Amino acid sequence: METLAENPVEKMNATLTTIFERRAVRKYRNDPVPKAIIEKLLDAARMAPSAMNRQPWKFYVVTSKTVINTCAGQITKAAAGHYHLGLLSGIISKNYDVFHGAPVVIFITAPPGNEWAQLDTGMCAQNIMLAAKSLGLDTCPVGFGRFIEETEAAKALGISKKEKVLLSIVIGYGNEKPELHPRIKNNAVFID
Ligand SMILES: Cc1cc2nc3c(=O)[nH]c(=O)nc-3n(C[C@H](O)[C@H](O)[C@H](O)COP(=O)(O)O)c2cc1C
Repeated sequence: METLAENPVEKMNATLTTIFERRAVRKYRNDPVPKAIIEKLLDAARMAPSAMNRQPWKFYVVTSKTVINTCAGQITKAAAGHYHLGLLSGIISKNYDVFHGAPVVIFITAPPGNEWAQLDTGMCAQNIMLAAKSLGLDTCPVGFGRFIEETEAAKALGISKKEKVLLSIVIGYGNEKPELHPRIKNNAVFID
């Protein structure tokens, strides 16, 4: 068994490789994602830590292309009402697909009034994205998905008014390999 000293951090392992290679992917092949893989990703999500172990998350998993397209259309309209259109014109155009053509969209909701739910959900989302990457899939977190709350599509999915939609994630087999966005490095303070 290697000791920590013999295993310097320069050495990558499977977990680190997955973390460093994940990208927000915005182009997908049409291939469906097998249900067993989606179930595994949800199990990985459920392994996230949560404040007071409340596990406040609920997942709405959409794999119907028709439903995904309907949600995307309604979300784009709802989002446009929130932003200055000039600001958004590059992002939200008539042909913009908020879900990037992915075959799976997961909406994550939590009860309102849980002050930790956003953090819990973020951890749970990251588990999904890293698990997906480790299984050869790509993902993109889509904050715009939150606007589904303001649409008829939310009702169709069965998302109740008693839930806050905190994030959506798209999942699929990627059709692009985005370059790494450089990371800001001067944001750590060491107090030795
Ligand atoms: C909370 C959150 C919301 C995001 N919302 C969107 C979105 O609505 N649409 C999108 O294409 N990307 C979205 N992203 C992806 C970011 O743009 C992306 O993670 C960032 O540019 C860094 O790129 P990387 O993930 O490839 O490292 C979101 C990311 C986070 C964490």
